[in-house]
Amino acid sequence: MTHSLSIEPLTIKPLRGTTFGAVVTGVKAAALDDAAWREIHAAWLQYALLIFPGQYLKRDEQIAFAKRFGPLEFEMAAISNVKSDGSLRIEADNDDVMKILKGNMGWHCDSTYMPVQAKGAVFSAEVVPSIGGRTGFADMRAAYDALDGPLKARIEKLAAHHSLHHSQSKLGHQTKKSDGEYSGYGLHDGPMPLRQLVKVHPETGRKSLLIGRHAHNIPGMDKAESERLLQELVDFACQPPRIYHHDWTAGDAVVWDNRCLLHQATPWDMNQPRVMWHSRIAGNPASESALASP
Ligand SMILES: [Fe+2]
Repeated sequence: MTHSLSIEPLTIKPLRGTTFGAVVTGVKAAALDDAAWREIHAAWLQYALLIFPGQYLKRDEQIAFAKRFGPLEFEMAAISNVKSDGSLRIEADNDDVMKILKGNMGWHCDSTYMPVQAKGAVFSAEVVPSIGGRTGFADMRAAYDALDGPLKARIEKLAAHHSLHHSQSKLGHQTKKSDGEYSGYGLHDGPMPLRQLVKVHPETGRKSLLIGRHAHNIPGMDKAESERLLQELVDFACQPPRIYHHDWTAGDAVVWDNRCLLHQATPWDMNQPRVMWHSRIAGNPASESALASP
């Protein structure tokens, strides 16, 4: 009997019922040849979210895959309720990690509070809870396209400040330790980035909304009006068919374009472990820098 190795061809299948996202099969993300890489990179720009089931990426493989998209802002961070000693964080303790896990259940864009916002991220599932813990994504290109003309014109020249202190303290989470030291990535004391509400994608030229929980305080607008406008934009943008919530299976990996998508964590039973790995791709300073401070 001859044994033929059946190799499934690389397939990129758009998600149904959404404006974005595709599932990629027939490829090992950790071992892409140049032709497969070109196809995947083009699909990433088109669909903004690629889902690769059954990858089981090892640490080095995930970092190498993420680096195909560009230099990294950081290589690998655990997004998890499991401590390094293997015990579970107690939800009610509400420690610094728990506060960020909870905070990230609001729609947001990564690292907009840093001088250069992230280009994207590779995110993979090692241990998943039986219920919940989905990750939501929202297409800000389609959201921008769906705005009416007057609203497009109104926001075209507007910008907002982005800050993790703002978004966390809005949830009642103190972002400084009692000794005055900051605790956690992104809780810096540097200048607060100002970013335009309408972002032009540096590679596709498409416009998208740059909003989410870190955005606040639009210059030239009173605080309440600014909050209202930003909230209205998020409420409008993050609706079907512009959203997709991924229900994770261990071994899944995704890569998203942080220059045109928002994302959010969702609750799970924190008596169950959840271990996810996040590799953050650095933005290009030429296109992802904040505006110069006025
Ligand atoms: Fe995030």
